[in-house]
Amino acid sequence: MPQSLVVLISGGGSNLQSIIDACASGQVPARIARVISNRPGVRGLARAQAAGIAQETLNHQDFPDRESFDRALMARIDEEAPDLVVLAGFMRILTPQFVEHYLGKLVNIHPSLLPKFPGLHTHQRAIEARESHHGATVHFVTPTLDGGPAIMQDRVAIAADDTPESLAARVLEREHRLYPRAINAVLSGEIQFDAGQAWHQGRPLGPSGLALW
Ligand code: GRF
Repeated sequence: MPQSLVVLISGGGSNLQSIIDACASGQVPARIARVISNRPGVRGLARAQAAGIAQETLNHQDFPDRESFDRALMARIDEEAPDLVVLAGFMRILTPQFVEHYLGKLVNIHPSLLPKFPGLHTHQRAIEARESHHGATVHFVTPTLDGGPAIMQDRVAIAADDTPESLAARVLEREHRLYPRAINAVLSGEIQFDAGQAWHQGRPLGPSGLALW
């Protein structure tokens, strides 16, 4: 049996598409068992359907609180017993109970060179801070928002005439090659999570993880 992924989305799913394509081409030797969106009708669900992948909506607005939503989400994910749970543009904060349940098997992509710019509006903030570079990070998820140990990063140079939109588009392109590579590194055991830290071939990774540049 190939290894399996469950992918959680909230929107357009362009990162999901890059993972679908990487699984189809064999670049990532795994299958996506299910795609779950917390928002109905998003493009990512159509992408999953077009690829013949089981997909469903679990609308967080149907639940009285974060805990009950996360419990229902865990139940759906655990039906597939995936090797890795992949957050791809999933715009919900997860409870510590959820995060602990998948610790070491839960990864996220964040559009900044973490630990710089956790949170929202990262592209605008990087431009305003006059950074020379901006990028994206794949990291293990821990209870600290955007604070888990980094797995891999890629970066782009910020141009003098960049707007948040132009920069976001260039970073997103990099995300699409970064995420499949990072998923591969975790599935193959090349990068592991242990004792709150990411390890690469037995050595602790630094705060940026593995750099793709
Ligand atoms: C990406 O920029 C990702 O880094 C962020 O949300 C965006 C999702 O885009 N977490 P998409 O839904 O994968 O197209």
